[in-house]
Amino acid sequence: MNSIVNSDLEHITQKFGDINRFDGKVILITGFAGFLGYYFTLFFNYLSTKGVNIKKLILCDNFLLGRPDWIDSLKEPNTLIEDFNITSDLGGYSYLGEADYIIHMASIASPVFYRKYPLETIEANILGLRNLLEVYKNRNIDGFLFFSSSEIYGDPDPKAVPIDEEYLGNVSCIGPRSCYDEAKRFGETLSYYYSRIYNIPIGVARPFNNFGPGMKLNDTRVPADFAKAVLNNEDIIILSDGLPKRTFCYIADAICGYLKILTYGKYDYFNIGTESPEISIREFADMYKNIAAKLFGYNGEVKFKVSSDSEYLTNNPNRRCPKIDKARRLLGYEPKISVESGIERFLRFLSEENRG
Ligand SMILES: NC(=O)c1ccc[n+]([C@@H]2O[C@H](COP(=O)([O-])OP(=O)(O)OC[C@H]3O[C@@H](n4cnc5c(N)ncnc54)[C@H](O)[C@@H]3O)[C@@H](O)[C@H]2O)c1
Repeated sequence: MNSIVNSDLEHITQKFGDINRFDGKVILITGFAGFLGYYFTLFFNYLSTKGVNIKKLILCDNFLLGRPDWIDSLKEPNTLIEDFNITSDLGGYSYLGEADYIIHMASIASPVFYRKYPLETIEANILGLRNLLEVYKNRNIDGFLFFSSSEIYGDPDPKAVPIDEEYLGNVSCIGPRSCYDEAKRFGETLSYYYSRIYNIPIGVARPFNNFGPGMKLNDTRVPADFAKAVLNNEDIIILSDGLPKRTFCYIADAICGYLKILTYGKYDYFNIGTESPEISIREFADMYKNIAAKLFGYNGEVKFKVSSDSEYLTNNPNRRCPKIDKARRLLGYEPKISVESGIERFLRFLSEENRG
């Protein structure tokens, strides 16, 4: 196994801690073939090395953006890979009802691609979520994790940054990003009502810019674009003025937060990310450049271009920085890996995979 992944899985196991609760359980992951699904899948398989035996791991995806190669290396006999669309009639998949823990991630997360598939994005977050909630509404499950997004806050009032969970947002219900932002918002509304009416332990995660291994290099999210440029020894291209600010959270830390929400046992909603440093896209690009120079002698430059996609920047939030006090207080969530170290780990992961 890739050495970075291996040490990240150990980090997740140590930081999450409570792994025995998954022993003998059935776990369902929708959208497992995407970025976050990569680490979730590997983590649940890795638990067997710690004496925790998952009864069944049901992995579902419709492979809308392709079927990554890593799936072919999944060999565990308890792992079931299913090619289906979560928005379709789930009646034929009676085994779904066996799940104790459900992780609903199915939804394209990359803006370029969700703008290409707007209706599919709305449906995955609303119809797909409702389909699942209908399956579990009268069952005694241990946890249901719905992946919302920090995008539910839209382009925040600067006075509201860093954003806490009670900020109501500044979101456009029309426009190229609305399919994602509003679908996530409505998904949260569904989660809220199903938890109230049926007492389902639904945890809602609002991820803030995760990055790291598992991100596809053609994903078009900024951390993937920059990594791809470095790997190809090309210049790093910024498709904005470089001024929008973000905090970037390395995947191994974020996964700990998601597992803690999944196992929280009751309805609640949490920002998951890191609160500092809040850096501009330009600063983020410079970090890639400097770290890659040290690691591989990379000598590309950071350059600016205008995207050929006229809607690339429409409603792009100027700032994205969370308060994570609530997750810290109620879940014991504490990200530990710095953005520099995350970039280094991501680049070392990719270079090891390329050699591999
Ligand atoms: N990665 C982040 O920083 C981030 C930020 C905010 C929110 N999220 C949310 O977290 C979840 C996972 O994010 P990711 O980065 O892994 O996304 P991703 O785009 O890499 O992967 C999403 C996966 O969902 C699958 N999918 C889409 N529609 C489906 C459907 N109808 N049925 C079955 N599968 C379907 C896709 O084929 C893909 O494999 C998403 O819900 C996303 O909106 C992620």
